[in-house]
Amino acid sequence: MEKKNLDWKSLSFGYVKTDYRFVAHYKNGSWDEGKITEDANVTMSECAGVIQYAQTCFEGLKAYETKDGRIVTFRPDLNAERMINSARRLMMPEVSKQMFLKAIDEVVKANAAWVPPYGTGATLYLRPCLFGCGPVIGVAPAPEYEFRVFATPVGPYFKGGIKPIRLLLSQYDRAAPHGTGDIKAGLNYAMSLYAGHVAHEKGYSENMYLDAATRTNVEETGGANFLFVTKDGTVVTPKSNTILPSITRRSLVYIAEHILGLKVEERVVPFEEVKEFSEAALCGTAAVISPVCAIDYEGGTINIPSGDKEMGPVTKKLRETIVGIQEGEIEAPEGWIREIC
Ligand code: PLP
Ligand code: COI
Repeated sequence: MEKKNLDWKSLSFGYVKTDYRFVAHYKNGSWDEGKITEDANVTMSECAGVIQYAQTCFEGLKAYETKDGRIVTFRPDLNAERMINSARRLMMPEVSKQMFLKAIDEVVKANAAWVPPYGTGATLYLRPCLFGCGPVIGVAPAPEYEFRVFATPVGPYFKGGIKPIRLLLSQYDRAAPHGTGDIKAGLNYAMSLYAGHVAHEKGYSENMYLDAATRTNVEETGGANFLFVTKDGTVVTPKSNTILPSITRRSLVYIAEHILGLKVEERVVPFEEVKEFSEAALCGTAAVISPVCAIDYEGGTINIPSGDKEMGPVTKKLRETIVGIQEGEIEAPEGWIREIC
């Protein structure tokens, strides 16, 4: 199959309109079959739940071309489960795992020419989203919903690819205790925009957020979880009910323990402890694993010993292993890879 004529290696993390998307509607208590369409625009009521009260959630996953030319996705069943949790919390109808996976498969297959070739470092990012499109004026769940999955070819999330990034310790909070930090609600991202702007204006790639209740423990960034490495090579990742349960992080924890034979601790991580770590990184679908070289806070800077030139050795090993699994060069644990075509 002939690929689109794009400069794959120069892609950034941006929206490129591809040919096909999947769209389904929920009305009178049930979902229709849904179908692939070429229409990239959404038409809905001016009083839609998403517009008035931010009733929307989304997912993010990628399709990869493997070395032997297959097209695969990585653990899409976990994205389906997470979207069910997000839908429940936001009073939206669930998209069944079966419907979610069918939509992903169909969108990837239809846009196969947009899946970046193996070895370019680019991937096809898939964005499933669910939103209230029917009218509500009193604060209530919308009567109608749309489920849409579109695709866009992407390069690295952070400018500079895998060059270590600098973070700002945010003065703002991302998620309240007992709030919505553990689901992928659009509202979590809307309220991070101003804090993100402040960080970018000052030259930082992202914010590090602390827990809102005590402002002492590390949570996550606006779009990725944290992994740290201690001086004796233990992988440490924050445990919290107010961070998004990252599929990449859960996979890396498994890889660290079961493939690389490393010790892993999932626990509360006081900000005070960060200066003791030898490596720090962000992990997520978009970020993959992005090394962190410094965190600035009011009154100082923590310089991570792995430095600003390259990622540390454990981060590098984790990255190579997960990318190797996603691109079919390393055997995947049972059920991690879904072959599409
Ligand atoms: N944390 C936040 C706030 C995110 O938006 C994301 C991205 O999805 C992640 C973490 C990483 O999650 P995943 O690895 O499932 O993409
Ligand atoms: C992802 O990693 O898929 C995300 O959704 C992060 C997003 C904020 C770009």
